Amino acid sequence: MIKFNIYGNEEGARVHFLTKEDIAKNDFNDYLENKNFKAELKDILYLPNTKSDSEIFIGLGNQDIKLDDVRNIFFELGNLLRKEKEEIATVKMPDFGICQKKTIMAAYEGLRHGEYNFSKKTKSKDEIFDLTINYIAARGPEEKLQQGVQISTDIMDGVFLARDLVNETGNIIYPETLANITKEKLEEVGVKVRIYEEEEIKKLDMKAFLAVGGGAANRPRLIVMEIENGDSPKTALVGKGLTYDSGGYNIKTAKGMVSMHSDMGGAGSVIGTMYALGKSKAKVNVVAVVAACENMISGTAYKSGDIIDTMKGLTVEVKNTDAEGRLTLADAIFYATNNFKVERVIDLATLTGAVLSALGEEYTGAVTNDDGFYQELLQAAEIAGEKIWAFPYDEDFKKLNNSDVADIANTSSNGAGSVTAGLFVGEFVKENTKWIHLDIAGTAYRSKAKGYLPKRATGIHVKTLYNLLNPIDC
Ligand code: BES
Ligand code: MG
Ligand code: ZN
Repeated sequence: MIKFNIYGNEEGARVHFLTKEDIAKNDFNDYLENKNFKAELKDILYLPNTKSDSEIFIGLGNQDIKLDDVRNIFFELGNLLRKEKEEIATVKMPDFGICQKKTIMAAYEGLRHGEYNFSKKTKSKDEIFDLTINYIAARGPEEKLQQGVQISTDIMDGVFLARDLVNETGNIIYPETLANITKEKLEEVGVKVRIYEEEEIKKLDMKAFLAVGGGAANRPRLIVMEIENGDSPKTALVGKGLTYDSGGYNIKTAKGMVSMHSDMGGAGSVIGTMYALGKSKAKVNVVAVVAACENMISGTAYKSGDIIDTMKGLTVEVKNTDAEGRLTLADAIFYATNNFKVERVIDLATLTGAVLSALGEEYTGAVTNDDGFYQELLQAAEIAGEKIWAFPYDEDFKKLNNSDVADIANTSSNGAGSVTAGLFVGEFVKENTKWIHLDIAGTAYRSKAKGYLPKRATGIHVKTLYNLLNPIDC
């Protein structure tokens, strides 16, 4: 637990922020030089004191401090305090020239990130360490700062929910359990949740979605979440919800399959975002849709070469059963944009291995039909410290999805795999709807930790989507 006292008592370990120039002027100059502390950005040094309070020195380098630097600094600070069993610290914040509310939010988020842990080791016990941070802001007003901490608490609860859902493995999270947990968690915070079982999904004519889920003993669920609060134009969020992707008859390798419980990373982000918005009682109009299923092998599974139908009515040649995400998204995005009055839609999906080749685990890859909408998202992502890069939206790529026998094929040759996958999904968006596709195959689930992002599930874009839908005033 973190107790965050804004303008609290000045007690406990003292945190000093130092630029390179500050070192010489500092009272602890000798100690710092002795320890070779150069005040590079994010350097951190601990001076324990048995008689009075301890000192902690944090380097600021000599460049401009960005919000994400604040997040990383506080993540490291929290780690140090926990390691050294320092329960109370006072942080006098320098003025970084950034909005004070956003600064305190980033500080709080950094500390919270450090509290996340996912482990199923029977011997690991959750160590409870209560941290009290007395945060002395450079400027007020205190009420705004307090609001910021409250919003960040809700956002981080959403991020942690997304991470938990994605980290849990396929034997625990399958369509039915994903739907049930979503209903339970989201209704708690006032989000309307409706779950459609197979018979109802059939009635909706979501034939591509049903084809993908056809081989699994765990039957599909359609999860629809709604917040109707205020009169802003409605936004739809669609999350890929493959609770397990074996590849189907075009089976994956052992190495490629082992983490495929995370193929519902898009669903996790969407559910986490709705949770955070609900908890904040945000004045937003959002509908979120997850077509949850497993891509498995059995006598009832769809086959390579099948020509299948979609809710939109377009026929699809299944050239590869492992390109299943775009098929479920086709129906989900058609449903979201046609059955609800939405002005814009964002889909999030762990869609292609190709996005990892292009952008690694650093950037989410985007495809969009509306530059204005995309710029708005980028601004929200910048505040969140979540990086996104757009691929070219070029009609010429669409031809690569052509099929000889059907209206469209689910794979293409000639490269650009992340673009063609995105454009496939785009075919099913209602006309005149602003659309952004986010391929999070590289960013939703990490092979190793980096800064405040843990190994495995990251909960990517909960923060971005929250900022976009419920912008933070300064
Ligand atoms: N779920 C995978 C994409 C993926 C790969 C996510 C690695 C996370 C990490 C997706 O369903 C898939 O299998 N895509 C294929 C598409 C191909 C058959 C055109 C891929 O990328 O190999
Ligand atoms: Mg696949
Ligand atoms: Zn997949």
